Amino acid sequence: MAQTSSTGAQGQGGGVQAIRSRVGSDTRDTAIRSQYKAVRSATSALAAGISAEDQMVQSCPEASPMKWHQAHTTWFFETFVLRPFFRDYKPFREEFRWLFNSYYNSLGEEIPEKSLRSAFSRPSLDDVLAFRAHVDQGMDRLLASGVDEEAARRTVLGLNHEQQHQELALTDIKHAFFSNPLHPTYIAGPPSEENDPPASKLSWHSFNGGLIEIGYPLQTADPLDFCFDNETPRHKVYLEPFQITNRKVTCREYLEFMSDDAYTRPEFWLSEGWDNMKRAGWQAPLYWRRDAGDKTGWRVFTLRGWHGVSALLDTPVCHVSFFEADAFARWGGRRLPTEAEWECVGSQTPPRGNLLDTGTLHPTAARGGDVEQLFGDCWEWTASAYTGYPGYQPLPGALGEYNGKFMSGQMILRGGSCVTPASHIRATYRNFFPPATRWHFAGIRLAN
Ligand SMILES: [Fe+2]
Repeated sequence: MAQTSSTGAQGQGGGVQAIRSRVGSDTRDTAIRSQYKAVRSATSALAAGISAEDQMVQSCPEASPMKWHQAHTTWFFETFVLRPFFRDYKPFREEFRWLFNSYYNSLGEEIPEKSLRSAFSRPSLDDVLAFRAHVDQGMDRLLASGVDEEAARRTVLGLNHEQQHQELALTDIKHAFFSNPLHPTYIAGPPSEENDPPASKLSWHSFNGGLIEIGYPLQTADPLDFCFDNETPRHKVYLEPFQITNRKVTCREYLEFMSDDAYTRPEFWLSEGWDNMKRAGWQAPLYWRRDAGDKTGWRVFTLRGWHGVSALLDTPVCHVSFFEADAFARWGGRRLPTEAEWECVGSQTPPRGNLLDTGTLHPTAARGGDVEQLFGDCWEWTASAYTGYPGYQPLPGALGEYNGKFMSGQMILRGGSCVTPASHIRATYRNFFPPATRWHFAGIRLAN
């Protein structure tokens, strides 16, 4: 997930994954057409309450304006599906071909600097929405007339790409509103119920390890059997016996780490993490601010505005870097799970949880059961660096730039978050970010 990139599909109500078993091109195209409308409408719904001014904001280097997200996801369909596969297609505006390119150098044209996306006062939001409508009309005509296998594959990829940008759009608007001195809310209401029961007691669960398989078992003959290229090929991995916690680390537990002066004790920190922490002045997770009025001394900014940390003690701590997650684990004499250990556990449970479709838009407390909270709430940092699996092959052509070129200097995260569409996540899904990144919804699970 990375730039666009990292994090794809629709579960109930017709998800991208759900249509994979359909047979016959007519049925296939009808299903894709339906999915196209659902995913595109979901993007529009997320942006519906956001003003044109708010949709211009780009408040940190990782973020993009919501208007740009709406345009760039549309550009993807125009560039990779309509222009090459729809003979009668008339582009909306020729300059959009390079203007809304994110990072595909193989397309051979100028790509505007990412930091300049907030300078796009032109085209207007109305023009961007007209661009979306134009491409939607073209895609509907193309899908209604029948598409070949490659166009079908690219359309499904485009839908998964757009779902990644749905998560990014919410992640970015949260930072934009946090950066605004008026601290507006995205949505009203508390992130959790006052009478919620406390989180499950922390417990450890043992797994035998051994020779296991990880990666997505892609059926290459079926254009609707989707995963990102970085989830393949499925391959064998040997695991020593390991233990993993039943749930994510909570704000209450993270406060204990902070109270033990862990942010000033170098013995817990990786060298690069210590340097980053000192340079950036980290003393708490991103979005935490000191608040003498709360009994914890802290408040936290959410998509639902400010809330005292005392009201969220049992919820998973969120918006921490890999370095903070790793330091927390070392402080407790534990470690982070590897991605293979995570997938070994995650593949044994359905991919359900506090995902975007719940509408909470913030992590919620674990509620009991065995190993839980694997999907949703916040991504879990792993101890694994982002590299290609043995035999990894990027997609052909410009789309090969989607994932493979980011395989350096990034760590793997697993499981999705409260802003990941429910149909987009699966046990094999590999998200990735640089280790100092904190603006995305990321938290901690411990291993042993
Ligand atoms: Fe993208």
